[in-house]
Amino acid sequence: MDTLVLDGIKKCYGQTIALDGFSATLTHGICGVLGENGAGKSTVLNLLSTLIQPDQGMILYNGSTIYTRYYQSLLGYLPQHFGVYGHMKLQDYLRYVAALKNVDGSTIDPMIQTTLNDLDLLPYADSKLKTLSGGMRQRVGIAQALINSPKVLLLDEPTVGLDPRQRIRFKTLLSRLANHCIVILSSHIVSDIEDIADTVWLLKKGKLCCEGTVESLIKSLDGTVYVKDGDTMDLPLDATIVNIRLKPIPMVRFISNALVQPSWRMVRPDLNDVYMRVYDVD
Ligand SMILES: Nc1ncnc2c1ncn2[C@@H]1O[C@H](COP(=O)(O)OP(=O)(O)OP(=O)(O)O)[C@@H](O)[C@H]1O
Ligand SMILES: [Mg+2]
Repeated sequence: MDTLVLDGIKKCYGQTIALDGFSATLTHGICGVLGENGAGKSTVLNLLSTLIQPDQGMILYNGSTIYTRYYQSLLGYLPQHFGVYGHMKLQDYLRYVAALKNVDGSTIDPMIQTTLNDLDLLPYADSKLKTLSGGMRQRVGIAQALINSPKVLLLDEPTVGLDPRQRIRFKTLLSRLANHCIVILSSHIVSDIEDIADTVWLLKKGKLCCEGTVESLIKSLDGTVYVKDGDTMDLPLDATIVNIRLKPIPMVRFISNALVQPSWRMVRPDLNDVYMRVYDVD
């Protein structure tokens, strides 16, 4: 089983400490990275992509440094801000990416066809990239990351702009790939991570503040998540408000360790509850 280890990583941009004392280990499967804006998610992915290097600490793939052509040849990477060459046709662009990634010539065309099919982009193979919609371009970004059958796949907010049907398709594809690949994806859509991740990292101000399997994180809130009719006026002091529904009747979902009140109905926790609790408590 391949492993990717981050050991005591510190990364600063000038005076800003983006990551501090960050240690974690990854193996095959999907790791979902969650965190508020500026928490350090993209910095982790950029470090794993070798685009930037840590100020302190080590990153090792199967025990060896990642700053090698070998590791880079195993990588697929979708950056958070993905720009395309608008004048190129989709198929030509993927051929260009395949050439950059040194994909074996005879396998390029079948690989492009498979990838276009996987991302539901076959009808646009001959379209210029500038003519594609935002969600289609995002899928082109995912496609270019997959073109060399990567062993380490880094996806920074891949589901941004994908419609609900494409999100399902993407999640199914990723689950298939994760059997023989280390997949790390960041997202602000907590339910996407809950549906597909084997493990989850919650980042807070450059530190890994919480990690575990989806099940174990959710279980940690068993018996503390409630809904009640009405507004938030009479909630206990320790309550974390997870959701407020205004229609058809006002209702609040919240987390609390206080003594249960007759008007509260206990509900099954989910990953969004975990997220809201972690970032509510300082
Ligand atoms: N190139 C840069 N120069 C200076 N500071 C940076 C740079 N990139 C990131 N930072 C800072 O590092 C910290 C972590 O940023 P990062 O982009 O990793 O966050 P993020 O979790 O990906 O946020 P988001 O959810 O908004 O994408 C932030 O404080 C950010 O302002
Ligand atoms: Mg980011």
